[in-house]
Amino acid sequence: MSTIAIIGAGLSGLALALALHQQNIPCTLYESRSAPLNIGGAIMLSPNALRILDQLGVYARILPSGYTFSHLYFRTSDDHPLDSYEFGSIPKYNYPGVRIYRHILIEELTAMVHEANIPIHYHKKFSRVLNESDTSVTWEFADGTTASAAILVGADGIHSTVRKYLYPDLEPQFTNAVGVTAAIPTSQLALPPSLPSEEEEEKTYPLPVTILNPTHGAFVIAPQHPTGSECLIGRQKHSPSLTRQQWTSLLTDESKSWCLDFLRDNATSYPAIVQRAVSSISPESVNLWPFYIVPRLESWCSDHARVVVLGDAAHAIPPSAGQGVNQGVEDVFTFACVVSRCGFGGDGDEGKLQKGLKVWQKGRQARVDRVVELNGQINRRRMPKQPGEGSEGMEEGMEPFELEWLYQPDFREMVEGWLGAEGL
Ligand SMILES: Cc1cc2nc3c(=O)[nH]c(=O)nc-3n(C[C@H](O)[C@H](O)[C@H](O)COP(=O)(O)OP(=O)(O)OC[C@H]3O[C@@H](n4cnc5c(N)ncnc54)[C@H](O)[C@@H]3O)c2cc1C
Ligand SMILES: *[C@@H]1O[C@H](CO)[C@@H](O)[C@H](O)[C@H]1NC(C)=O
Ligand SMILES: *[C@@H]1O[C@H](CO)[C@@H](O)[C@H](O)[C@H]1NC(C)=O
Repeated sequence: MSTIAIIGAGLSGLALALALHQQNIPCTLYESRSAPLNIGGAIMLSPNALRILDQLGVYARILPSGYTFSHLYFRTSDDHPLDSYEFGSIPKYNYPGVRIYRHILIEELTAMVHEANIPIHYHKKFSRVLNESDTSVTWEFADGTTASAAILVGADGIHSTVRKYLYPDLEPQFTNAVGVTAAIPTSQLALPPSLPSEEEEEKTYPLPVTILNPTHGAFVIAPQHPTGSECLIGRQKHSPSLTRQQWTSLLTDESKSWCLDFLRDNATSYPAIVQRAVSSISPESVNLWPFYIVPRLESWCSDHARVVVLGDAAHAIPPSAGQGVNQGVEDVFTFACVVSRCGFGGDGDEGKLQKGLKVWQKGRQARVDRVVELNGQINRRRMPKQPGEGSEGMEEGMEPFELEWLYQPDFREMVEGWLGAEGL
């Protein structure tokens, strides 16, 4: 029974299956939906995740479908450059930033999982763990059937059911902020033509951009599609706390009226580019993202180390640094390395696996903590200045963030370092 069961065939679950396969560890995926998730919108992948996806053979397959870029730009509500944030760099990290439609990434990962002959069972909704021993775990699905494995991994997202076994009472916390996004043709923005020379920079409009309005929130414009022919537009601001059901009903409303109003309201308080951006929006492209976080967990696995959570199930984090998906990719790759190095499926030193997973969690939590701290720094830096508190332009002495710790690591070496330090 030396197989690993993965609950959830989202980005973390699918990537985990490929990472385990690379370590010759058998696994099976169980997904509650009837088919691969196909929600609209693109996500951003940074060099830390792209290096891992490259090692898994995924990068070359997705790159032709992605839009590559190096920086996120920030502007004031009267349209002056304010700041920029590095999201990738081929010279520095070997990888650019890549924006890619989530459904393309999911489809490609699913195809690779099929090619590796890893089973995916759709329509299988995990409901609860029945029992756990030193060597195995048994659980039940919502249809009443049961299954067993050596390890059960919950990659089942922010509202994880597997996590309930470890933390029965824990609920994700709403952060009082919401994002609404849509997709428009880039031509609708009527952008100035890009000019090659640097002196002309003022006349170009660098994208992706976030325009910050102290009263009305942030407005994002980010190209997607390999040619940049389409742009995500998004608005992020404070919002009342609604139940999950109420959020769902806002999103499933055919006319999307609440979401469209959220995007359009007070557009005249933003530069003309924003007014053009919201002048025509197709309701089918609209997405709603209420920002929830999972409070810092004491442990990502059970005492016997037979039940584990990772990805959003373990540490959903706010979006400022764009690391949600990317941190999940780090989790799964390092998890597979640790489990393999601790002799999974071999002569079975159970203590070693338990210690290894503790070390894994400690190492991963330290990086997630740093990302959360970075989110805070980014948010503070972008807080609107009070009148008289200095100019609105790029501030004197505003150093770019040092991001090598985030983008540069080799994760196999990182795992060796974690284990070595504990004599494993
Ligand atoms: C609209 C929107 C936009 C976003 N944009 C970005 C972005 O630009 N960049 C970024 O980094 N992050 C973004 N995020 C966050 C990002 O989606 C998550 O960080 C990421 O999807 C987490 O991946 P995951 O695989 O851990 O979980 P999920 O993607 O949530 O996958 C969990 C999977 O588990 C399945 N599942 C759930 N419960 C069960 C069960 N009981 N049994 C079986 N299967 C189950 C689900 O159906 C799903 O397929 C966005 C989120 C939303 C909602
Ligand atoms: C766990 O539960 C299953 C199903 O009820 C049962 O068959 C199995 O013997 C149990 N294992 C242990 C170790 O209790
Ligand atoms: C538009 O601005 C007004 C005045 O500041 C505010 O009351 C209203 O909530 C804003 N609408 C949205 C959707 O933000």
